[in-house]
Amino acid sequence: MSFDRDLKIAPSILSADFANFGAECEAVEAQGADWIHVDVMDGHFVPNITFGPTTCAAIRPHVKTVMDVHLMIAPVDPFIDAFAQAGADRLTAHVEAGPHIHRTLQAIGGAGCKAGVALNPGTPASAVADVLDLVDLVCVMTVNPGFGGQKFIASQIAKVRELRAMIGDRPIHIEIDGGVDPTTAPGIVEAGADVLVAGSAVFRGGSVTQPSAYGANIKAIREAVAGTYV
Ligand code: DX5
Ligand code: ZN
Repeated sequence: MSFDRDLKIAPSILSADFANFGAECEAVEAQGADWIHVDVMDGHFVPNITFGPTTCAAIRPHVKTVMDVHLMIAPVDPFIDAFAQAGADRLTAHVEAGPHIHRTLQAIGGAGCKAGVALNPGTPASAVADVLDLVDLVCVMTVNPGFGGQKFIASQIAKVRELRAMIGDRPIHIEIDGGVDPTTAPGIVEAGADVLVAGSAVFRGGSVTQPSAYGANIKAIREAVAGTYV
């Protein structure tokens, strides 16, 4: 997988039909998704529970693009191998999830996955300064993690700008997660993000039997940011 900074839309299956993940992934990819974003929540690090490695393994054969697994769990390290074996291409861990983010990111790379580090809205950009050599993605949360459909926190745009400057020309993606839609996406992209996670704004109005709504929703985000991408 070579690095490229082309704009990517990564639909979060948190807003998909939980009884039908395989078909949902296939439908949203056919409608233009670049990556599939998979939100793993443990009811401890965040106040909600989704699913674990077994579900990721079940989804895997239905994902042709990139399986982008966002780990909202603590601890992380005991589960890295299980998610890698489940077929995750990328594993993103939160800097707030434990005292040893450096070790965690080394372990993710050691397990053969691309490593990402995520920042909650209350965590400054400087928290990842000393681990940038271990990651190829920084995820800026623009909602407090735990639920889909929350309001975008605009103060995070300044953090994206700061990270963009910090990263310089290193091959590191900036991913935005939470409240992304055609109205919020342009400011984020202009600040330097290249991967946009969107749950409710992609899946709203559609279903596996009405997938064209997914395509229209993805297109609306792409069109909204056209011209702002840097
Ligand atoms: C939040 C998750 C996000 C979220 C995005 O904890 O990490 O991926 O589902 O959903 P929307 O786009 O609806 O905010
Ligand atoms: Zn996420």
